[in-house]
Amino acid sequence: MPELSRFATPSFEIDALRAAEFPLTARWAYLDHATVSPMPARTAAVIAERVAALQDPSQETGQREAFAREGRERLGRLMRVPAGQIALLTNLAEAMAIVANGLTWRSGDEVVIPEQEFSSLVYPWLNLGRLGVRVVFVPKDGPTTDLDRIAAAITPRTRVVAVSHVEFQNGFRHDMAALGALCRDRHVLLAVDVTQSLGVLPVDVPAWGADVVAAHGYKWLMAMHGIAALFISAAAMERVQPTVPGRSSVTGGFEALDFALDWHPDARRYQSGGPNWIGAAALASSLRLIEEVGTAAGADQATAVADAVLAGLHALPVEITSDLRPTHRSQIVSFTTGSPERDKTLVSRAREGGVSLGRRGMGVRIASHFWNSVADAERLIDVVRAAE
Ligand SMILES: Cc1ncc(COP(=O)(O)O)c(C=O)c1O
Repeated sequence: MPELSRFATPSFEIDALRAAEFPLTARWAYLDHATVSPMPARTAAVIAERVAALQDPSQETGQREAFAREGRERLGRLMRVPAGQIALLTNLAEAMAIVANGLTWRSGDEVVIPEQEFSSLVYPWLNLGRLGVRVVFVPKDGPTTDLDRIAAAITPRTRVVAVSHVEFQNGFRHDMAALGALCRDRHVLLAVDVTQSLGVLPVDVPAWGADVVAAHGYKWLMAMHGIAALFISAAAMERVQPTVPGRSSVTGGFEALDFALDWHPDARRYQSGGPNWIGAAALASSLRLIEEVGTAAGADQATAVADAVLAGLHALPVEITSDLRPTHRSQIVSFTTGSPERDKTLVSRAREGGVSLGRRGMGVRIASHFWNSVADAERLIDVVRAAE
C-alpha cells in the first residue's frame, strides 16, 4: 500500500476539531459530504437554543434577525461579494427559478446547460418551454464538460449559461474564469450552482464574473436542509423582476399596509415571506467554523484527503471516473469497479466497515471536507481492497 501519511499537512488542529465538532469521527470515516454534511456540534447547540426560543417566544429578542444578518455577511466574505447582493432562500431550485422566472423572455431564446447536470439546476429553465424557450444540453466527453463544447452551443439566441461549479456526479470542476470570460464576450448571463463547492473550495465571484451564484446549505456549508443562498449582481438585478414577493421582499415588511411595493434596494427583494430562521442561525454558526479554518487551508486539506484516496485507488483494479487535470479536479472523486452491481455492493460493505460513501451515475463517489483526515482515506482504501 502506498504511504498515504505524506498527504497529512493540515495547517490547523485537525484532531481537536474532529473531536470537538464531529463526534461521529470516533466511529465513521465519513466521506459522503456531496450527499449531506454532518452538522458541527456548535451548530447543533445553536439550533437547540433556537428551539428553546420557539418553546418560549419571550426568549426571542432579535437574535433570529441577527443570525440572518451574520449569515449574509459571512456569505458575502466567502464569495467576495457585498452582503447586500445575497438573498437567503430555501433551496437551489427556488434560487434558479427566481432568476429564470424573473427575466423577460422571447420565444426562441435559448439556455445552455451541460448534460447530466443536477435536476434542480435544469427544471427551472426547462419550465420556460411554455414561453418558447429552449434548453440546449451540452454533451459531456466522458467525465469532462468541455469549454469548447459550451462555446459551440452558444448561439445569438442564447441568453443564459447555467452550470455547477463542481458537478455532482464525479466532481468535475469548471474553469470558472474562462467560462466567465466566454459568457461576457457573448453577452450571456452566467448562472452558477455552487452547492458542491461553497464552504470547501474558493468561490471568487468577482474573478469569475458570474451574474448569479447559488447554493443549498446542507452540504459543504454544513448547515441544514431548507436554507440556501442566492448571490445576484447589481447589473443582473435590473433584469430580474421579483416573482415570489412577500413581506420579506419590501422595505416596509409586514407593517406597510399601504402596499407600496417598495422593493428592498438589494437582493432581499427576492426573498418572499417569513424566512427559515433556524436555518439562518445554523448557516451563520457553520460559516463561523468555515471562516475560522479559512478557505485556503480548508481547500488544501479536503484536496489532500482526495489525493490520498486517489493514490490508494491507483494501486487497485478500479477505474477512476473523474477528470484529474489540476484545473478540473475537486475534492470529489469517483471510481467504478466496472459493474454498477459491484459498486453498489462495495458501498454497502464499506458502510458495514464504518466508511460512508456515495454512489451516483459514474460509480462510487468520495467527497471529503476539511475535517476529514488521511486516516479516513486509509480506512476507505482498506475496505475497497477487502471487497476485491
Ligand atoms: C449540484 C447540486 N445542486 C443542487 C442540489 C440540491 O438541489 P435543491 O437545493 O434544489 O434540493 C444538489 C444536491 O445533491 C446538487 O448536487
